[in-house]
Amino acid sequence: MRPLKKVGRKNLDKRGIIIRDARLEDMDEIVKIEEESFDDPYSKELFIRLLLSGTIFLVAENNEVKGYIIGEAIGTRGHVISIAVKRKFRRQGVGRQLMEKLEEILLRVGVKKVRLEVAIENKTAVNFYRKLGYRAVGVLKDYYGWGKDALLMEKTL
Ligand SMILES: CC(C)(COP(=O)(O)OP(=O)(O)OC[C@H]1O[C@@H](n2cnc3c(N)ncnc32)[C@H](O)[C@@H]1OP(=O)(O)O)[C@@H](O)C(=O)NCCC(=O)NCCS
Repeated sequence: MRPLKKVGRKNLDKRGIIIRDARLEDMDEIVKIEEESFDDPYSKELFIRLLLSGTIFLVAENNEVKGYIIGEAIGTRGHVISIAVKRKFRRQGVGRQLMEKLEEILLRVGVKKVRLEVAIENKTAVNFYRKLGYRAVGVLKDYYGWGKDALLMEKTL
């Protein structure tokens, strides 16, 4: 994998939201967002490991961290590992900005197709990804535990 950390990743929008690389000091805020977003949240330790392991780990910030996204590039394949936006800032385009920035970085490092898994019952996220151009390409049985299937979604960049 190319040195993803060296790719410039700052993006200031009209509302003053910056999309930038996550830092160690963001982890507490990220964990709070994670815990209000998922029944089975990632731990702080896992986030730190992901940060240090060369993933593309971005936050949306405007005075505070409003959301995060983690992705990775494996050759020409991209993968969205996780995304969450603080509840009170949802439906304001923050998630879209995070996804668009991740896709921009993935394109720059040679990714052609991006894949992700989403719980079939997470209608909000499925709608969100559809809106951003992702299409269902399969079902992963019991991906999140017994009886909890995932939809595999894909987008060609
Ligand atoms: C999924 C998530 C990241 C979306 O973030 P967001 O900042 O609210 O999304 P955006 O405001 O950028 O939405 C972009 C588009 O997605 C669709 N969308 C987003 N939330 C939606 C909802 N609750 N219902 C229907 N469509 C929705 C809409 O089409 C929206 O565009 P619009 O507002 O112009 O209609 C956010 O809901 C979240 O953090 N959920 C909890 C964590 C999670 O489920 N992550 C995904 C795990 S795979």
